[in-house]
Amino acid sequence: MKTWGARLGSEPDALALDFGQSLDVDVELAVDDVTGSIAYARALGHAGVLAQPEVEHIVAGLTAIREDVVVGSMPWDPSLEDVHMNVEFELARRIGPLAGKLHSGRSRNDQVSTDLRLWLRRSIDAIDTGVQDLERALVGLARRHADVVMPAHTHTQPAQPVLFAHHLLAHVQMLERDRGRLADARRRVNVSPLGAGAIAGSGVRLDRERLAEELGFEGVTRNSIDASGDRDFVVETLAAVALAMVHLSRLAEELVWWSSPAFGFVRLSDAVVTGSSMLPNKRNPDPAELVRGRAARVIGNLSGVLAMLKGLPLGYQRDLQEDKPPLFESVRILRESLAVLGRVVAGLEVDAERMREAVDRGFLTAVSAADALADLGVAFRDAHHILGRLVRRAEERGVALGALDDADIHEALGESEDAVSRTLAQGPDIAEHLRAALSVDAALARPDVIGGTAPGRVAAELALAAARLGLA
Ligand code: ARG
Repeated sequence: MKTWGARLGSEPDALALDFGQSLDVDVELAVDDVTGSIAYARALGHAGVLAQPEVEHIVAGLTAIREDVVVGSMPWDPSLEDVHMNVEFELARRIGPLAGKLHSGRSRNDQVSTDLRLWLRRSIDAIDTGVQDLERALVGLARRHADVVMPAHTHTQPAQPVLFAHHLLAHVQMLERDRGRLADARRRVNVSPLGAGAIAGSGVRLDRERLAEELGFEGVTRNSIDASGDRDFVVETLAAVALAMVHLSRLAEELVWWSSPAFGFVRLSDAVVTGSSMLPNKRNPDPAELVRGRAARVIGNLSGVLAMLKGLPLGYQRDLQEDKPPLFESVRILRESLAVLGRVVAGLEVDAERMREAVDRGFLTAVSAADALADLGVAFRDAHHILGRLVRRAEERGVALGALDDADIHEALGESEDAVSRTLAQGPDIAEHLRAALSVDAALARPDVIGGTAPGRVAAELALAAARLGLA
């Protein structure tokens, strides 16, 4: 009643009031709400609605409220429904009826969108810092283990040797794209809806552009109907956040596998693993598993907001209030996940020997030898068959490819349908040529293209990433 003025005849139903209140969630916006109102009071001054002493009085009152919010001494009242009404009522309590002028030409519809945009802008900037911190942890790990070779997998089957650093830099690339998506979303977040009013535009002749500038927005919305009901900027940010969480989840998944004794590639530090309540032997990678698990919540939050929007007519609908819990939760989860994975990565111990054993076990240099045959004029498809026969033979004998006899190699080429291969099978040097190509060093050196694992290429990418991230 005290909130909605004279229109409504009865006291609000307690259950309905509690059902509708959003203070427990949107209290998160308190600082931004006050910041928006301070700028708005100044805009009312420019528009001639408030005299200069009135502006100063209101701004002083709001500034004091903001300090109380920050130190936690603001008296919140959920029966006032939301953060906006709480701030307005608190201002009235402090400065009297003058506070009633602050909402001239403003609606909570343009106000809440403003607050949310200010909050998101800050949050995106904080996420960006968090992403870069994780990138630094990955690049640091890559630099400490610049020569370590690991098996790259496709289909979860060992495929080719790569530098461990090359694999870590793949995650850095993914994170860089996340930064780009967030920066792109931020451009559309950072537009001022203030002045849209409830739906038709503010009844006060505000200088919207000046007001936007005062709040650090890069522009103003161009249609009041659109602006009051638009939550695209929430969806776009959530989509970028969800994809970033998917990326963190994939990194987490790899850490879970690599740290399992079956792989044994890495060891998580004692500080980040947990034991078991029953099994005294356990070292469980819980932080990585929880990042993986929480990515699911963020994906659900994105689809929840899309579903909330899809049936809404234009303009503000109360359904829109439901954007905040999923948005706030998702941003919090991403920020925490970035921080915790940064700790896990920074403390990772790498077992280069175990990785090297896995490389040696898996016939991973076969395609390098096929490429070397192709260098001599053999059709790649035929070379592929020759190496296939050699892998089968090596497996039967239980030896590495490079340990096959010359006779095996000559035989595998001789069985070929390709005349070039049969000719090579007669020559004396072919076994040596193939053995050279079968070494891990040769296999690593061969993908010497931009983005390939050849050590020179990886070193160049590592240097670029380190420079970009300001690592000395
Ligand atoms: N608590 C509301 C929200 O979060 C604020 C806007 C309310 N507007 C209104 N016309 N009831 O969406």
